[in-house]
Amino acid sequence: MCIWSGDSLRTCFSFTVVAFFLTFVFVDGVVQEIKENRAFKQKIDFPDFGHYNGNFIKNIPDSVLPIDDREKRIIAVGDIHGMNSSLTELLDEIHYDSERDSLIHVGDLETRATIHDSIDVLSFMSSNKILGVRGNNDQKVIEWRAWMDWILSLPGGEEWLSVMDKRWPNLDGDKRLQRVELENWFKTSKYASWKKMVPAGWHPLGNHYRVARAMSPGLFEYLISLPLVLHSPTGHMVFVHAGLLSSHPKLQASDPRQPLSHWPTVDDQHDIAKLRNQQELAVLTEIPENKDPWTVTNIKSSQLWNDTMSKCSGNSGEAYQSSSLPCYPFTVVYGHAAGRGLDIKRWSIGLDTGCSYGRRLSAVVLDESSFSSATYQFGDNKHVRAPQSQEIDFGDNGQARIVSVSCA
Ligand SMILES: *[C@@H]1O[C@H](CO)[C@@H](O)[C@H](O)[C@H]1NC(C)=O
Ligand SMILES: *[C@@H]1O[C@H](CO)[C@@H](O)[C@H](O)[C@H]1NC(C)=O
Repeated sequence: MCIWSGDSLRTCFSFTVVAFFLTFVFVDGVVQEIKENRAFKQKIDFPDFGHYNGNFIKNIPDSVLPIDDREKRIIAVGDIHGMNSSLTELLDEIHYDSERDSLIHVGDLETRATIHDSIDVLSFMSSNKILGVRGNNDQKVIEWRAWMDWILSLPGGEEWLSVMDKRWPNLDGDKRLQRVELENWFKTSKYASWKKMVPAGWHPLGNHYRVARAMSPGLFEYLISLPLVLHSPTGHMVFVHAGLLSSHPKLQASDPRQPLSHWPTVDDQHDIAKLRNQQELAVLTEIPENKDPWTVTNIKSSQLWNDTMSKCSGNSGEAYQSSSLPCYPFTVVYGHAAGRGLDIKRWSIGLDTGCSYGRRLSAVVLDESSFSSATYQFGDNKHVRAPQSQEIDFGDNGQARIVSVSCA
């Protein structure tokens, strides 16, 4: 405490100044340093790990469609999640012939079975250039691999990853235990400073990390070649992992901003094929949610899709009632929703029947009779004689068949 008397006051005053200086300048300095340190920790300029660039929609070539060809088929298979032997069983059941049939997958090829099984599925898909779309699990594997390639490009990165590989060599070990061990290891090992290179919320050593680490460059290339949406303008169908929105969810169905509330402008308004193509593209590209990678690999929207498509009443030339829309419906085939199981609506086909949970692996088989130009009845195709099958309506006025095998 300062006493009001001559010299001691001056002493007291200078102490106060020094204390003031120490407190503010020193503390301020520390705060500044902490701030800089935090900023340094957060300011790591992570490259883009998503690899979405310019790879949103791809067209299915018309040569793949079983139109005017009784022998050809399209076999679209649900979420495989590394269950390669179930895939083999399903393809045997359907008498899949790679010369004659085209396989399409709806994503999530890996990460629930063993790492080796996941790699087997990826190898089969990649070496046979199978068409398909990216699932949310494929995306995680892509991001881990892009991250690894970035780490490997940094001085010391290769050493760090290979030390981790050696420390946790068991590909299929207990992931939760490994996560705890890893946290402790970061605290004590000389690789502690690498921890900040792991983006927030990411956990090394999980299944996606392992698959990403085990993949050859060719398998990685295959995964990043997968678009988010596969569209067949001729077949009037679209493949996506989780779902697409058929309309802006916050606008009325008749709002002019809705792609299906009006006919698109084309040179010849009688060119139905062109009208349909433009309208399908408008749904895929003008609804913001459909261009959001997270949305199309994670949301479940088949009810809205089926409801909207059901209102499409074609180009009848009549005035449209509030209950109908000037459009032609098209079909979405998707996976992702294992909880719902097989989910068949008139304009949507949900194929994830939970194979990795010991349930079933399912496919929808399309042949010439699935498309409107068909000249014969479904089932005439001698190659589709699977006992576990269910016939469904498909597209404008065709049929398709659902085939599944048990994964138990
Ligand atoms: C994985 O499944 C595919 C498709 O049935 C098959 O061709 C391939 O031989 C399988 N791979 C292994 C390693 O069993
Ligand atoms: C899907 O749409 C059809 C009409 O096209 C309708 O009859 C059916 O009830 C709808 N399905 C579901 C599950 O909503």
